[in-house]
Amino acid sequence: MEPSLKRIVMGVTGGVAAYKAAELARLLVKRGVEVRVVMTAAASHFVGAATFQAITGQPVYADLWDARVSNGMAHIDLSRDADLILVAPASADFLAKLVQGRADDLLSTLCLARDCPLLVAPAMNRQMWENPATRRNIEQLTEDGVALLGPTSGEQACGETGYGRMLEPETIIEAVDAFLQPKILRGLNVLITAGPTYEAIDAVRGITNRSSGKMGYAVARAALEAGAEVTLISGPTALTPPGEAQLVNVTSAQQMLEAVEARTEETDIFIAVAAVADYYVLNPSENKIKKDAHILTLELAPNPDILSNVARQDTAPFCVGFAAESENLEEYAELKRKRKHLPLIVANDANAAIGSDDTELILLDDDGRHVLEKTDKLTQARRLIEHIAKLYNARYQ
Ligand code: CTP
Repeated sequence: MEPSLKRIVMGVTGGVAAYKAAELARLLVKRGVEVRVVMTAAASHFVGAATFQAITGQPVYADLWDARVSNGMAHIDLSRDADLILVAPASADFLAKLVQGRADDLLSTLCLARDCPLLVAPAMNRQMWENPATRRNIEQLTEDGVALLGPTSGEQACGETGYGRMLEPETIIEAVDAFLQPKILRGLNVLITAGPTYEAIDAVRGITNRSSGKMGYAVARAALEAGAEVTLISGPTALTPPGEAQLVNVTSAQQMLEAVEARTEETDIFIAVAAVADYYVLNPSENKIKKDAHILTLELAPNPDILSNVARQDTAPFCVGFAAESENLEEYAELKRKRKHLPLIVANDANAAIGSDDTELILLDDDGRHVLEKTDKLTQARRLIEHIAKLYNARYQ
């Protein structure tokens, strides 16, 4: 959880998903956030106040005229020092109330009287979600600056399957974290390559490498969180790409080069995370090669260097490279940075980095080295994006 998030008001409205709100509260508390739960009357039909009180260690509120708030100003006091209000689940009825600016219970009054961000995680039956009235409400709420988390599609309590299911608590926490990231790349187009490339030998075989794509996908996510328009050009991976990125799937280095070159002109920042195969197989066989007793020789030719090709253009975007090295890490990475004319290169240990979830990164730029201590790849990607934004702004603004 972002360290900046200290205190939240968590609204719970009437819906079956209210039982998941208990888990959400538990996860937030576990991450060190002070959670004050405010329930609507309908929510108490699904889950009891005692549950939230026990989980959060805080009194639970439901009444606009709660005597525990000394001056009768619960609607102001409760959200006064909150960093945000998160309503999960948010029912169709509650969303409609928000649109109208109604204030006939404590939670809606708090939302109306707030001066902090409001995030809602809708949960409702598929037909209610698809109803034109809800569609209109969602559009209006977005226009009003309310952040929508989900819903997602899946099996529903009513037995139907479709959109309207509340996001899982872990996903809501990730979405809150993403929301809190500073929008330091707003208005910029970021192009990212990720994953390995695959160079065909024949119809079913090829040369590839062990890159999982995790770092590149994390960088794409962090750039999106920072407000950028992101295009992710990905070699074959087993990962789910972030939904808001424009995804271009490629297989070979040649295809990756073409996909990158087609977009370089409109790109402000190019981050080459992909582990591009250095060679491709000359004359791959269209059919599966049959084995025989002879030695098989493959002829390999060097692939184009995508990053160098982009970086040497006169109107090149701000280019960032990655260097996975198994020895002399910083020395080799710095040589690569100079050779490819990059303002920034990210060095990591090839043996430790591939496929793992945690990684140490060393950023090398004109000012020297910056060590990003070992942690998960999304956190590293966020730190990297912060560094890139700083260098980019120093250069262009
Ligand atoms: N890169 C690229 N196109 C290539 C090869 C690499 O865009 N054909 C990019 C990678 O995405 C990464 C950086 O260049 O950002 C890596 O540089 P490179 O010198 O190619 O690294 P290695 O392939 O590891 O080089 P070497 O085998 O010489 O260490």
